[in-house]
Amino acid sequence: MRRVLTKNGYDREDVIQDGNRFLLGNGHLGYRGTLEEHDKDDLTGFILAGVYDQHEDDWRENLSLPNPLHFRVYQDDEEISLRTKAPLSHEVQLDIEKALFHRHTEFEPFALSSMRLLSHDDDSLLLEEITLRANKGGTFRLEYGLDRDIADMHGPHFRETWVEIGANCILFHGKTNEGKTLHVRAYYEGIEGEYDGKTRFFSKTLTLKEGEETSLRIIAKVCEEDESTAFRNSGFEDLKSRSIQAFQKKLSAIAVEIDGDEELDFEMAYSIYHALILGDEKRVRSIAARGVSGQTYKGAIFWDTEIFLLPFYVLANPIIARNLLLYRINTLEGALTKAKSLGFEGAYYAWESQDSGLEACRADNVTDPVTGETVITYFGTKQIHISADIAYAFDRYIEATGDASILEEGGTRVLLEIARFFLNYARADEDGVYHIDDVIGPDEYHERIDDEAFTLGMARRVQQTILRRVDPEKLDEESRGLYQRIISAKWASPKEKEGIYEEFDGYFALEDVDVAMLKKRVKNPQDYWGGKNGIATKTTVIKQADVIALLALCPEDYDLQTVRKNYIYYFSRTEHGSSLSASMHSLLAVRLGRLEEAYDFLRASSGIDLRGANKLYAGGVYIGGTHPAANAGAYLGLIYGFLGFRQKQGKVTLDVHLPSHIRKVRFYFMNQGTRYEGLAYQDGHYEIKEAKQ
Ligand code: BGC
Repeated sequence: MRRVLTKNGYDREDVIQDGNRFLLGNGHLGYRGTLEEHDKDDLTGFILAGVYDQHEDDWRENLSLPNPLHFRVYQDDEEISLRTKAPLSHEVQLDIEKALFHRHTEFEPFALSSMRLLSHDDDSLLLEEITLRANKGGTFRLEYGLDRDIADMHGPHFRETWVEIGANCILFHGKTNEGKTLHVRAYYEGIEGEYDGKTRFFSKTLTLKEGEETSLRIIAKVCEEDESTAFRNSGFEDLKSRSIQAFQKKLSAIAVEIDGDEELDFEMAYSIYHALILGDEKRVRSIAARGVSGQTYKGAIFWDTEIFLLPFYVLANPIIARNLLLYRINTLEGALTKAKSLGFEGAYYAWESQDSGLEACRADNVTDPVTGETVITYFGTKQIHISADIAYAFDRYIEATGDASILEEGGTRVLLEIARFFLNYARADEDGVYHIDDVIGPDEYHERIDDEAFTLGMARRVQQTILRRVDPEKLDEESRGLYQRIISAKWASPKEKEGIYEEFDGYFALEDVDVAMLKKRVKNPQDYWGGKNGIATKTTVIKQADVIALLALCPEDYDLQTVRKNYIYYFSRTEHGSSLSASMHSLLAVRLGRLEEAYDFLRASSGIDLRGANKLYAGGVYIGGTHPAANAGAYLGLIYGFLGFRQKQGKVTLDVHLPSHIRKVRFYFMNQGTRYEGLAYQDGHYEIKEAKQ
């Protein structure tokens, strides 16, 4: 079983993608898989989740911290690093079972190795050990310390910074534009350097004999506001082994082994790693669309979390799943404010949500790659399905965990306010049937459309959730009145022709082309296909699973015949321009017995960050980073798709349909507070038992 990602050789062109591929994270912090000699031009990133800042009237985004792992080697005043020299050999590794990053680089005069981790035991800690071994005797000058020149997408975010320098220690304080103070304390052990005020790094000149080694150990601690930067330094090795143990414990709840397909086995483990390094058990925070891999999408939380990551965390760690919902409870005020500001009642959650829940999405989200002009989009004001997706997540969490206490902690109010919003946004026709006008569905290429299938289906689902989960007896009078209105509402069904749902009113009348045909019209690969003048806007080509997503999320509501017809119809018209699309297709393809296709979709999802074939730019805007929803989606495709996993009131059943080359799948999951082991075989039989400790 392979559990280490290894890359040999160095190509400057790959540095940014490798920063994503070799990312470390622990829910609270992220450290991109860049190297010690790299700097902001290489997108070195020490990322803090959940804290945001706005510089002037630029995009508000999550924070990138100063980099404590800066390390460069000079000989005769010449820098010898991957920035300046071709190495004799170079290898990086990510151990996805221990959450460790390694590098080993051979230059002629010396070899440089490092081991790095973000602690899973104390999530404020970043550790690194760097070893320099002389291949030839010589004198080397080492430069190391905290690089304060930060790669910000929309910064600078620290309006004021000051440092305290101790013996082998730097304490950085930064005050953000919004007035938050953050601290990074970095200790450098093993080498006694002098602080050089000019370079703002430590410097040490050493003479090493051939074969002689020297090591530097770095322990950096990140603190917010008035948290103390002190910590119990039980020693580097102890801190390292605690982190490994803590990560292995997390992993043991969700690990998967696939017998008969080594590539998928590795990709699945890799996807699980990338999803698992994002959950925060200690804080009520949510997970950003690009996780902790940078500042893409402003570090904001989208529907990706509720639809893809929450079902993953329900099985991996229900405490984190609960935190994701508590975050939506805590940001209800933001959703009420957003609705009000647009003239609506109830909870309209932010399409791009940050700490307060206010809308972070802007009309200037997309630019024309050629002219640089803004392409106006309406994601933030019209993508109302976000609120229904959140209600869906509450339902799914309660179904899977049996924990209805979330309702008492504010969940009921969230559900009712979401339903209030939908009733208020919708229009009742002369028969009193509710329609939804002027929205955007998951297929963002078609804007401001009426009776969008996914949105209608999910609005109906909000109603069903309230019927199932909310006890009217426990409500006050006003809420009881609202409850009555919610449950008695009649929602329009999406229009259909011969069993195929029309994605929105007028969709079938658009120019009917498929994706292959449309691609021929692309002028610039960075072009945005939607918006007013996008090449897809007036055609039937859609960005991602839309009707298909609805059918995948509500399997019990749509029969096989309907699924088949819609799947076939939308297949050639879907661009998969979003990484969210493939796993939805995989789920339905299994239902239809199209196992090979399902497998290809699964691999598209599980290999997304490994292959890095996804778009890096959309409409001139950098959208790179890891893809947590696709990472979790790959897992969901396997478990809910190929294994047919169902969890009802604590009872788990499978309905196994594996591609013919997969012999067996072993998987672990949490159910009602207990860790279980499942085994599913090629012939369809399976076993579920409590896992041994
Ligand atoms: C997709 C959205 C998604 C967002 C963040 C967009 O490209 O169309 O559905 O929520 O990316 O992942």
